[in-house]
Amino acid sequence: MSELLRVDHISKRFGDFYANKNIDLTIESGEIHTLLGENGAGKSTLMNILIGLYQPTEGRIFLRGKEVRIESPSQAVSLGIGMVHQHFMLVDAMTVFENIILGDRKAKGLFIDRDARRREIEELAARYGFHVQLDRLITEISVGEQQRVEILKALYRGAELLILDEPTAALTDIEVEGLFDVMEKLKAEGKSIIFISHKMREVLHISDRITILRAGETVTTVGRGEMDGQGLANLMIGRELSESHYEKKEPDGKTVAVMDHVSYHRQSKHNGLSDINMTIHAGEIVGIAGVDGNGQTQLAQVITGVISPEEGAMNLKDTKVAAFDPLEFIRNGTAHVPEDRNLQGLVSDMSIADNIVLKRTESEQFSSGNGLFLKKNVISSYAEEMAQKYDIRCRSVDQDVRSLSGGNQQKVILARELESMPDLLVVAHPTRGLDIGATRFVRDQMVAARDRGVGVLLISADFDEILELSDRILVLFEGQIMGEYSGKNPPIEEISMAMTGK
Ligand SMILES: Nc1ncnc2c1ncn2[C@@H]1O[C@H](COP(=O)(O)OP(=O)(O)OP(=O)(O)O)[C@@H](O)[C@H]1O
Ligand SMILES: [Mg+2]
Repeated sequence: MSELLRVDHISKRFGDFYANKNIDLTIESGEIHTLLGENGAGKSTLMNILIGLYQPTEGRIFLRGKEVRIESPSQAVSLGIGMVHQHFMLVDAMTVFENIILGDRKAKGLFIDRDARRREIEELAARYGFHVQLDRLITEISVGEQQRVEILKALYRGAELLILDEPTAALTDIEVEGLFDVMEKLKAEGKSIIFISHKMREVLHISDRITILRAGETVTTVGRGEMDGQGLANLMIGRELSESHYEKKEPDGKTVAVMDHVSYHRQSKHNGLSDINMTIHAGEIVGIAGVDGNGQTQLAQVITGVISPEEGAMNLKDTKVAAFDPLEFIRNGTAHVPEDRNLQGLVSDMSIADNIVLKRTESEQFSSGNGLFLKKNVISSYAEEMAQKYDIRCRSVDQDVRSLSGGNQQKVILARELESMPDLLVVAHPTRGLDIGATRFVRDQMVAARDRGVGVLLISADFDEILELSDRILVLFEGQIMGEYSGKNPPIEEISMAMTGK
């Protein structure tokens, strides 16, 4: 094997904080090299340096033995480096096709042969087994599909070194398998991949070598099979993590939400709901199992008042819902950890503190005169308490949310929603993008909320997560509930079948 890329003593400082410190890393041709590290360890920062978004404070980069300066993403592309970012960089108002050819040198000029481009993209998609709808707007497709578009775009540009920053976070198991096939194919073609994931099973499966980062520094690099998951986790977080086991409970009888024959876009198999009957009681976790894109998004939206059903009715506690309006739902005790944290969850150019109190600025705790005068000091110290409790890795709670690492942004939403003392907590993919320590913490918090009497609706594409946490499991397929199972000793085979409509 030959060395493709070498990073030599790279550091990156933001103010007086080192996000990367003295990093050494070598990428061989034809290898899949994983970066493993906790939320905030510095993985994305390092990748952003390689793609030319950030300039390193110190250190040098060598490509095929020659020193290079990567000053912009377009220069990185011309050097053969492509990246799929952790947060999507797609243009919402454009179609999938337009996004893929955006900035493509082949497509420049007046006469873009759109048909030829299209065929090329379709061939590429078919070759790697990606299903994408080229004429849909980005806003119309699921997060999983957006992820596929990003990958396709990088492949289309023909990268020698492909950086995949948490590409699997929003993919279904089958899609992950498809992506791994793609990665193996690229590897066989001699291309190199830097892969980032918090899912240990994936990391152990796909990596040729693994480099562990901790607090911005490289800990070590290990080869395939040299270390097991537990060993890697210990190096990554610097402490042991015991096995987790949550007790399953029976609810106490009070209902917090009832859906009665609810339908929404009934004909749409992937974005609709068809005759949903569902009850969530106080003190239970109801898990929705299913492949993403079978109505999960719409279910979460109806039950948090974002959209109103076309047929059927809903009760919150004992009161029939008169108006589907998110603010009304919040006032009536509903909390929501949304699927897309960037769009619906956070205001990224506001501070961590302001995001944490976002929905409660009118409360007496944080303001006087119904939100007219904010109690800045109270907000600050409360936010600091939350940052401590939820282990939000930041320098100050006055920092913009956008400067946090991906996983730490997720913790801000969780802190806000879980601490709002809801009756009903609707969580979609709560641990997506979280490292193993943070995942454990968040699951503990959901179970603790249940034990306080909160009714929890857990939507997750991670079947293991559903099995681990749910007191009751409902399977959603093509907008319909296919079956209901107890969370105690659930029939795993049967549920898996139901998830595919069988
Ligand atoms: N533009 C910035 N300004 C200030 N601090 C930043 C900036 N970008 C990143 N950081 C900080 O650098 C550290 C490393 O962040 P980075 O995004 O590289 O982490 P990560 O390893 O990718 O984490 P995750 O697994 O959560 O995605 C974090 O503490 C983050 O807050
Ligand atoms: Mg990251």
